[in-house]
Amino acid sequence: MEILKVQKLCKTYGTGAVKVDALKDVSFSLEKGEFVAVVGESGSGKSTLLNCLGALDVPTSGLITIDRNNLFTMKEEERTIFRRRNIGFIFQSFQLVSELTVEQNIVFPLLLDYRKPKSSDVEEILELLGLTDRRNHLPSQLSGGQQQRVAIGRALITKPKLILADVN
Ligand SMILES: Nc1ncnc2c1ncn2[C@@H]1O[C@H](COP(=O)(O)OP(=O)(O)O)[C@@H](O)[C@H]1O
Ligand SMILES: [Mg+2]
Repeated sequence: MEILKVQKLCKTYGTGAVKVDALKDVSFSLEKGEFVAVVGESGSGKSTLLNCLGALDVPTSGLITIDRNNLFTMKEEERTIFRRRNIGFIFQSFQLVSELTVEQNIVFPLLLDYRKPKSSDVEEILELLGLTDRRNHLPSQLSGGQQQRVAIGRALITKPKLILADVN
């Protein structure tokens, strides 16, 4: 089953002398369960691509469908809800909420969607990521690697169709 389809994706920043074609006619598709790494030198457009796939940025032209849903024919509000329910995004700089504990950060996407976290799911994620004994800590009390694992947990809790990780 095709979970992601990208067709002729283009993203251009700026105009005139500062115009940059960050993405130029990018096309590919991904089956359910597939794992893909995007490799390229700094400035080659990896974050731009991931931001478009994660519906955090809007491409200049082209098509993205996730589980046959066209991302950019949706209204912005609809897209926000679609993103929350279907896409897990792991940011390079983690973007954890500094006032919330490890556990609260992980369940945050469910609370935003008025859903109640299932305690067995929370325990499984904490255990899987080796964070059980840090569940009540704040992000500032964690190492970089631990913070990254919290960000991974937050991307997993909604059981998204697509997980995107911007690591560089
Ligand atoms: N907000 C922006 N405004 C203008 N140019 C940008 C912006 N973001 C990225 N770019 C340009 O787009 C290109 C791709 O950037 P990016 O996707 O961040 O690359 P990567 O993640 O592969 O290092 C770079 O050359 C960068 O200068
Ligand atoms: Mg990048």
